[in-house]
Amino acid sequence: MEMLRTEFLGKKVSSPLVLPAGVMGMSFSGLHFSAISGAGVVTSKSLTLNSRTGHKGPVIAEFEGGFINAMGLCNPGIEEGLAEINEFKKVCDKPVIVSVFATSTDDFIKLTKYVNTSKGDFLELNLSCPNVFDEFGIPLAASKEKVAEIIASVKKISKLPIIAKLSPNVYNISEIALSAEKAGADALCLINTVGPGMLIDKKMVKPILSNRTGGLSGPCVKPIALRLVHEVYSCVNIPIIGMGGITYGDDAIEIIMAGATLVGVGTAVHYRGIEVFSKINEEMKIFMKEENYANLNEIPKLEKLWTKDSHCQLQK
Ligand code: SIN
Repeated sequence: MEMLRTEFLGKKVSSPLVLPAGVMGMSFSGLHFSAISGAGVVTSKSLTLNSRTGHKGPVIAEFEGGFINAMGLCNPGIEEGLAEINEFKKVCDKPVIVSVFATSTDDFIKLTKYVNTSKGDFLELNLSCPNVFDEFGIPLAASKEKVAEIIASVKKISKLPIIAKLSPNVYNISEIALSAEKAGADALCLINTVGPGMLIDKKMVKPILSNRTGGLSGPCVKPIALRLVHEVYSCVNIPIIGMGGITYGDDAIEIIMAGATLVGVGTAVHYRGIEVFSKINEEMKIFMKEENYANLNEIPKLEKLWTKDSHCQLQK
């Protein structure tokens, strides 16, 4: 895997592929299975202060372009979640991103204090879940002021580098990304699921998901992910974990060309099995050999299509 070795925020990474939050649940075994199957970095389900059962089923459905889900942030709560991560770290030295979700600065601070005591490597602030609108309203990632406030407060106390997970469901992604960077985010993760969207059960004449709406993932969102990653890459100087519809090695190469340093592979686990990580690793290597790229740094980036001046009010 020499060709795929890289570094991310000071940690050595064996492959740029990342298991995103939630894809393999929260248990030690889900994270471990992904790591031994070739993911270079694994992410926990987004953890909240208290456990949550999430939405009633159905919480996920497939359609021709991908999947729609509204899990409702089901998780065992921060203490139990961190215990699973600590178990994982006993048997695997691959970096873990601890993902946390809250709706207030105070709760993010409480979560960060817990995470500081864990063996996690990075702290992901999930500011962008699209599936809890009824409970919490518009995701925090829609407001550059809220994004900045939370990141700046967490930055003061976090022992781990901070990754802000942003939403694709905004018109000013570069403003929000710049706001996150200025407030102290060490990296960005994008995109969370797109939408929300809705599927209809024709016989029952009602939405398929119990939550009625949910976030879209899978191949249908890849062009959106490529555009957003590239736009943000054009404007910020911190690394990006790019994700959204990455299913094959070619997709991973494309999102790296768009500006990603690491690459999330989530929905593709449903299509290609957990071996998707080793398959994509191999597919990337084949492409890199064909093009004579000896390592990830040699993969060229797309010429920047956005400039801070033309696309970001913060830069005016
Ligand atoms: C969910 O639990 O509903 C998904 C989490 C997310 O999209 O951030």
